[in-house]
Amino acid sequence: MKLLVTGGAGFIGSNFIRHMISTYPGYKIINLDMLTYAGNLENLTDIENTPNYSFIKGDICDRQLIDDIEFDAIINFAAESHVDRSIIDSYPFLRTNVTGTQNLLEAARKRGCRILHVSTDEVYGSTEEGLFTEESHLRPNSPYAASKASSDLLARAYYETYMLDVIVTRCSNNYGPYQFPEKLVPLVVVNALGDRPVPVYGDGRNIRDWIYVLDHCRALDIVFHRAKPGDVYNIGSREEWQNIDIIKTLLAVIAEKTGADKVAMTEKMTFVKDRPGHDRRYALDPSRIETELGWKPVTGFREGLSGTVDWYLSNRQLWGRIISGEYMEYYKLQYGARPPR
Ligand code: NAD
Ligand code: DAU
Repeated sequence: MKLLVTGGAGFIGSNFIRHMISTYPGYKIINLDMLTYAGNLENLTDIENTPNYSFIKGDICDRQLIDDIEFDAIINFAAESHVDRSIIDSYPFLRTNVTGTQNLLEAARKRGCRILHVSTDEVYGSTEEGLFTEESHLRPNSPYAASKASSDLLARAYYETYMLDVIVTRCSNNYGPYQFPEKLVPLVVVNALGDRPVPVYGDGRNIRDWIYVLDHCRALDIVFHRAKPGDVYNIGSREEWQNIDIIKTLLAVIAEKTGADKVAMTEKMTFVKDRPGHDRRYALDPSRIETELGWKPVTGFREGLSGTVDWYLSNRQLWGRIISGEYMEYYKLQYGARPPR
């Protein structure tokens, strides 16, 4: 099996490649990544010399490049992935998430090979009540979510029209090692350790459904090997948390691990102007993958958060290099426009 993994230098992709390299030593894993601001080969230094791993720097929108690569199947992680950035500028999101995915679907069609498209629960939009199933309507609200919903619909169209062997997964919010510090969990940790305020959007009561990244990776492994063409699977852990509770828990864990004053740590929380169009609640029903494929998450939320804080404490040099340059420019633009409420 020659497996083309796109976006493998990002957060979930790098965790997935590490999982696949150790689980399937007979597979050849080809990581195709454009190395945008979010792609970092340092996420993979521990496995970069493994004989069954190779890296190609390139763009999923580049048709000729994809045509020239030899592979038997594709797993597509490559995307612009941050909602706040999509509100500032949606162009790269449409380009990579829609055109790039179409290009990969075409490449899979030409070869008649399997493609697993990694999507998100954000395509369902927001709900105050109940859980999203795979049959729920797609009602995306941010430019990011709309671009991901568009690629889901393209995947569906390629299955219906060409009988392409395409599978779509929709996962909830991931956290864990190697996440880029623009996202909530690492941003809280990095700001708290760096003595910066911790910005809480709006009233902090928005709800997300959290999953440890390696549980997501195991689910993708199972879906990739066992799903039928055209299948769609939700992947979630039934761990619904309000943002404010996650932030308080994280700050308490950080204070405990570093010996910092707990009250001073909690006082870092700063309520700021809300995200425009901020989805109130994401909540997934993962019954299908649990009953049909026997997958279940194994990492509890508190255990996963504690391990994640440990990882950021032990890898200060890696993320220290990231939070300069482009990141600080983005940070000033994003949070400069979000004064305390
Ligand atoms: P990430 O931003 O950390 O990584 C994205 C990777 O894609 C980066 O390495 C980047 O360099 C690469 N990339 C971007 N544009 C590219 C292009 N045109 N060609 C080739 N490579 C390109 O994202 P992530 O959080 O690891 O998410 C991975 C996938 O999972 C995305 O499709 C995202 O929509 C989906 N997803 C993420 C979450 C989450 O909580 N992070 C949850 C559900 C689904
Ligand atoms: O649900 C899956 C999605 O989860 C993925 O598809 C996206 O790629 C991923 O980025 C994530 O989207 P969110 O918008 O939910 O994640 P984010 O970490 O940006 O924000 C989580 C919540 O925390 C959200 O309600 C906004 C809030 N937040 C975020 C940041 C960065 C804050 O209150 N303060 C912040 O500084």
